[in-house]
This record gives sequence, C-alpha cells and structure tokens, in this order.
Amino acid sequence: MQPICGATTPSPTSAAVISLMGSIADVGRDATRGGYSRPVYSTPELDLRSWFVEAAQRRSLDVETDRNGIIWAWWDVPDHERTGAVVTGSHLDSVPGGGAYDGPLGVASSLAAIDVLRERGFAPSRPIAIAVFPEEEGSRFGVACLGSRLFTGAIAPARALNLRDAEGSTFADVLRANGKDPDTVGVDHDGLKRIGLFLELHVEQGRGLVDLDASVGVASSILGHGRWRISVSGQGNHAGTTLMADRRDPVVAAARAVVAVRDIALAHESARATVGRLQPVPGGTNVIASRVDFWLDVRHPDDAVTAAVVERIHAAARTVAAEEGCTVELVEESFSATVHFDTTIAAGLSAATGGAPLLPTGAGHDAGVLSAHVPTGMLFVRNPTGVSHSPEELCEDDDARTGAVALADTLAAYAG
Ligand code: HGY
Ligand code: MN
Ligand code: MN
Repeated sequence: MQPICGATTPSPTSAAVISLMGSIADVGRDATRGGYSRPVYSTPELDLRSWFVEAAQRRSLDVETDRNGIIWAWWDVPDHERTGAVVTGSHLDSVPGGGAYDGPLGVASSLAAIDVLRERGFAPSRPIAIAVFPEEEGSRFGVACLGSRLFTGAIAPARALNLRDAEGSTFADVLRANGKDPDTVGVDHDGLKRIGLFLELHVEQGRGLVDLDASVGVASSILGHGRWRISVSGQGNHAGTTLMADRRDPVVAAARAVVAVRDIALAHESARATVGRLQPVPGGTNVIASRVDFWLDVRHPDDAVTAAVVERIHAAARTVAAEEGCTVELVEESFSATVHFDTTIAAGLSAATGGAPLLPTGAGHDAGVLSAHVPTGMLFVRNPTGVSHSPEELCEDDDARTGAVALADTLAAYAG
C-alpha cells in the first residue's frame, strides 16, 4: 500500500490522548516499587482492558476479544470485508514498577487518532482497527509478546499454556479464570488475513528523538533479544552451623556469574546483557540457598553474536559454579531475531508525518513479532528522559498530541 504524502497538521481533538492517559493515571500504581505494575490478567490490567473497551465503544467501534485474548476495535466501512485493514494499537501490560507510557500511549494515541480523523471528516476506504495485545512484556509468564506470538503461531499453544507465573498458576489456569478456553489459543490465520498493515505507536525507550530534536520518529529496526533462565544449584544449609569452608553456596556462584555477564557484554561491542531478576531458593535470611534462579536478557544487532555472548556467559557460569562446588543449568525462554522494518513502509510513514526521522530501537514490540507475517511499521514519540521500564519514563503532552496527529496522518495515508 502506498501512502498519500501528507503533513502533520495540528488538531484540537488530539488532546484526547492526554485525557485518555489521565483517566488511567492511577490504575496499577505500585507503592512499593514506584511506577506501575500491571501484569497481564491482573486487576490493573483487566481495568485497563475495560477502560479501552469503553473508550472504543464510546467511539462506536465494534469491539471483540479473540481466542488469544487480543482485543480488536473495528472502524468498519460499508461493503468491505474485514480484509486489508490498517491496524494500529499496542499493549496495556507493564513490567514491574514500569512507566506510564510503555504500551498505553500507543493504545490511547490510537483512540485519539480516530477522533482526529473523524474531526477532519475522513472516511476510510478500508477498515481501520485498534488491536491490544496481551503479555507484551512477558512479566507474568516469562515469554515476551506472548499474545502476538500465539496469534502468529510463533509459540506452540502447549508451551504457552504450561507457562507458570510466580505463584505457580499456569497460563491455562489464568485463561480459564478469565472466562477463556485454553484449548482455542493458537495461530489465527483468518486474523492475520484481516491485516493489510500493522502500525504501532510507542513511546521511545531511549534518547534518539531528544538528540534529533524531533517529536516523532519512524522505526528502522528492532534489536534482536532473548531471555534465558540460569539455575545454579548447591547445598542448602544453616547459616550458623555451616563453616565457610564447608559451603556450596549457589548465591556466591550466581553473584560471580552476574559480574561475568557484565564483563562479557562489555567485551562485545553493541552487546547488552542484563540480570534484572534473581531468586534464591528458599530465600531465607538465615538459610544458605540450595538454588538460585536468575534470568539473562541479552541483545545484539547480530543474532550470531547474541548466541556467542550467551554461550560465553554459560561457560563462565559453569566455571565459577564448579569452583563453588555448584552446578548450572541454562534454559532459553524466548528469542526474537533482529527485525529490519520494510524500508518502503518506513519511508511512507516518514513522508506521511512530514519527514519524521528513522531510528532503531533496542526494545522489543508486538510489531516486531507481526513484521514476519504482515506489512508492519512503527512510530515513536519523544521521551525527554530517554528512560523506560522505570517510573522516570516520560512523554510530554505536546509530544503526545503530535504523536496522535502523526498516527492519524499515517492511518489516513494508508486507509484513505
Ligand atoms: O523488553 C522489551 O524490550 C520490551 O519492552 N518488551
Ligand atoms: Mn512496550
Ligand atoms: Mn516494555
């Protein structure tokens, strides 16, 4: 689909993005961590789903939730099957203690963009829809973009259904508890056929647009990234009765391994490796742990380098574990190859938004998963702090409005 070049013209209606974001500002605030904790199918995330459905219905959009838990809000056109649709949207779930904008800004901007188009008297010649994907962060069940992976067939239903959260509930249990039939999740060929273009707007999770002094940007690529669980096993014992020389303490081995993660990443230009989550078992103050689980997030533009970094980390972990009398197991939990967005679409998005600059991102998105199956693009909106997955994530009102208008312009360009 070729866009009709346009320019971003201001619109009073775009302020809807600010009021929409304001109306969820207290949903899922985390008093302990700061920021927001909105795990998929938790009360806060379910509240956000209700917020979205009500806002979409107030706009006379036809709302449905599919068997994978994805919410679709359709702006249909007469005599047009739901094929070739221009679909926008994002996610509502968050990381623990996350920012206000990662996900919800894309959803709120989608609603506001439809307001802007209607204010202009725009009549789409193909359906426009908003899609809200569950578990983009993978914060509850461990696999990033779980909803879009199920939708596209990128994860086997059996594997997804057996994923467990920290309380031990399976994804299947949680689906049932939310009135969904686990036996129906999986690839949705009809759903994919409905999409002519998927276009996700997202707060930028970096300083690219700040440095470019631009409100809006277009994604050129998504850094490949994966997650691995490393379990170090030793000898659980009493903190007081076990002499230091008699210990096989997995926490000590894990701590040494975490330093090796940092050192190995530093030795590979452009590599990023993070351990943000580490859980001793059983986790008592006066208990030498029997096991430590920690999770590795590794990213690099070249997927082969990512694999090499992980292998070096695994080898280093085995070495330090052996020195501490422990053993190590590494399990890959998810991997997303580096995505290079279609350059024609990216150029079209830039043209439709008055020349918004192209820039890469180190953050994963549902758009990255969908890009292997349907034409896909992304818009970014400036984040003055450049910080994300943190309460300091920010998007100023003027930029949010500019983003909503830019999204309206791109929807008009492709659905006009
Ligand atoms: O982890 C990521 O890159 C994304 O925010 N889910
Ligand atoms: Mn996100
Ligand atoms: Mn995120």
